[in-house]
Amino acid sequence: MDVFRIEGPVRLSGSVRISGSKNASLPIMAAAILGAGKSTLRAVPRLSDISVCNELLGRLGCKIVREDDGRLSIDSTVIDNPVGEYEIVRRMRASICILGPLLARCRRAEVSMPGGCAIGDRPVDLHIKGLRELGAQIQLKNGYIVAEAPNGLRGKDIFMGGPFGSTVLGTANVLMAATLARGRTTIESAACEPEIADLADCLNKMGAKIGGIGSPRLVIEGVEQLHPVDYEVIPDRIEAGTFFVAAAITAGELRIENCRLSDMMAVVDRLRNMGVTIDAEGQGCVVSRRGPIGTADVTTQPYPGFPTDLQAQFMALLALAEGNSVVIEKVFPDRFMHVAELNRMAANLRKEGSAVIIAGVRKLIAAPVMASDLRASAALVLAGLAAEGLTTIDRVYHIDRGYERIEERLNPLGAKITRENV
Ligand code: EPU
Repeated sequence: MDVFRIEGPVRLSGSVRISGSKNASLPIMAAAILGAGKSTLRAVPRLSDISVCNELLGRLGCKIVREDDGRLSIDSTVIDNPVGEYEIVRRMRASICILGPLLARCRRAEVSMPGGCAIGDRPVDLHIKGLRELGAQIQLKNGYIVAEAPNGLRGKDIFMGGPFGSTVLGTANVLMAATLARGRTTIESAACEPEIADLADCLNKMGAKIGGIGSPRLVIEGVEQLHPVDYEVIPDRIEAGTFFVAAAITAGELRIENCRLSDMMAVVDRLRNMGVTIDAEGQGCVVSRRGPIGTADVTTQPYPGFPTDLQAQFMALLALAEGNSVVIEKVFPDRFMHVAELNRMAANLRKEGSAVIIAGVRKLIAAPVMASDLRASAALVLAGLAAEGLTTIDRVYHIDRGYERIEERLNPLGAKITRENV
């Protein structure tokens, strides 16, 4: 297992290019199931979650080739095993997004029920509800969701909101299934995340008829068939936001290339309020901090609200703010595994239900800490850059799921991170 040793504090400067979005790539890879033939996806990041998705699609019958220049080709001419096995789904919950496309194309699908994870329960009831409304018969058998639609799916008006608002992958599943349903489907309370808009744009390029893209009401006119596609995924706004915080926490200056500020307004707004400078430049921006870190109230919400996937990274930054801040988690109320680890680094964080009260400290102090999930581990790397001494982060495989060799991206900017296999 790999560990990171991070020597701090450092001040970062230089340029970094943001990769294609992981959370846009995964459902778009599943969408390739819908258009029999060879699709080419561009800017798909090299991440362990993408490799797991390749394996998942491979078991269905797809042929996947990763080209050197970042292209990923998925040949979905043959799908002869519409099954998402437990052994794969337990490694990556996003595997659930093959359910809708398999059902639409093969009229049956069996996908292992994902379990909970370090960030919470993560139910899939809304995915199942939406697909049932499209006419699928769905049962749970031996830990698997067994879905059938022997006569095909039928369009319907569907409300997809749940106790925590919209669902990203639930919307992706029902949207993909509805593209091949007979008649019109309306998804009300659809997720508005840029990754869902990117999926919808890709589906339209494949021949789907989706309107209302980017809004909470998606209208889908079912078509007979979709065709393969050549499509480039959007830049990763969460990776970009993580580098924004890296510049801010180290009082550095980073030129962030290939990021869409228009997808990140809630993040930009919070950072500017905290005294961080963000100037748009070309296809990206320059992020820097000179003065102290200001406090902030951050409430995570579905898009266009503040993203839960940057909550942990912001908490590392707020730990060093001049005064008290509050973070309220409204998407995954238990997503706080990083709190105890940051406190091991001399932060002063107190969890109160789904909120954390942060009393800013003057400095963080290096400590051995444990990565628990992808974004929590990113927060620990950021804290390690700013902390005094040598931070050791165990279970680095969590961070490799969503950030490609992050140490090789940060070290040229002035970080001192070594990866060791222990
Ligand atoms: N929910 C339900 N029922 C459902 C589905 C979701 O109650 O059937 C609840 C969840 O428990 C949660 C809320 O709805 O409280 C939102 O969950 P959502 O379904 O939107 O999450 P997801 O689609 O499973 C994606 C991202 C996550 C990101 C969330 C929220 C991918 C592959 N995953 O998950 O990304 O945190 O949306 O934005 O797109 C990450 O990249 O680190 C990550 C966890």
